[in-house]
Amino acid sequence: MSAPDPVSVPAFLYGTAWKEDRTPALTELALRTGFRGIDTANQRRHYFEGGVGQALAASYRAGVVSRADLFLQTKFTYINGQDHRLPYDPAADLATQVAQSMASSLEHLGTDHVDSYVLHGPASGAGWTEADAEVWAAMVRERDAGRTRLLGVSNVSWRHLTQMAMTGIEAPAFVQNRCFAVRGWDRDVRGFCQERGIVYQGFSLLTANREVLGDELIAGIAARIGATPAQVVFAFARAVGMLPLTGTSDAEHMRQDLGSLALTLAPDEVEAIESLMG
Ligand SMILES: NC(=O)c1ccc[n+]([C@@H]2O[C@H](COP(=O)([O-])OP(=O)(O)OC[C@H]3O[C@@H](n4cnc5c(N)ncnc54)[C@H](OP(=O)(O)O)[C@@H]3O)[C@@H](O)[C@H]2O)c1
Repeated sequence: MSAPDPVSVPAFLYGTAWKEDRTPALTELALRTGFRGIDTANQRRHYFEGGVGQALAASYRAGVVSRADLFLQTKFTYINGQDHRLPYDPAADLATQVAQSMASSLEHLGTDHVDSYVLHGPASGAGWTEADAEVWAAMVRERDAGRTRLLGVSNVSWRHLTQMAMTGIEAPAFVQNRCFAVRGWDRDVRGFCQERGIVYQGFSLLTANREVLGDELIAGIAARIGATPAQVVFAFARAVGMLPLTGTSDAEHMRQDLGSLALTLAPDEVEAIESLMG
């Protein structure tokens, strides 16, 4: 049997949360602008996954991209993170809910597999639970059946990850977390990921760190390299090994966010930003 193709992961992910009716048009614009990684979730409360699927179909028809060009990531969300618009039977066991949610995601996205399937958040903030283990095992089965290529977890602490690892189950390929500069840009979790070859996906890099954007250190670096403060934050994120997400609704910001990939910060600048707030 030949080895599966290595999964190519783009350097930036376009996030589709909170766009409601604008989801199809904005996702299509993001693809036209050059994004090749799309993050969504089967959680109608915050995402319109069917709208992402509409954008994909329109982009394929227009010849902008093909499925093979894309990295599609979606999520399984527990019932406590959902509203009444559930993608599964709430009376079913968790493993069945995962299978139903995945089937619904594939239908929404018009594909037979996604590239990454993420547990949106563990059942408890306090630690990795039996419920999480059951869901994770069901996600592994989805992967083994070819419906996703990689697996991830989101909104996790170092404690969650350590407990998950101690149970001896398969490690995630991705961790997706809100990244606060005041916590050393999630230093503990990033360290855990780096030691194990897990890719850390950072979101809310701008919205969780508004004071950073106004800091004179960032302003100085931005002036030196002819970039915006937001671009400096994204360039920093890449420099420390993160895979950043942006959910911009603005065409110029889409170009700027992708443009940040071409920026290089000096090592001392990266260090200074890393310890700017914590
Ligand atoms: N796993 C989870 O629980 C979870 C939670 C939250 C988010 N996410 C994912 O992460 C994605 C991104 O969410 P987010 O919280 O990082 O961001 P977001 O809510 O999409 O907001 C990004 C903000 O940054 C601004 N922005 C972006 N690029 C900019 C630029 N170049 N210059 C100035 N402002 C800029 C945007 O304004 P403009 O629109 O005006 O550009 C917007 O206000 C979501 O869509 C979702 O896919 C996951």
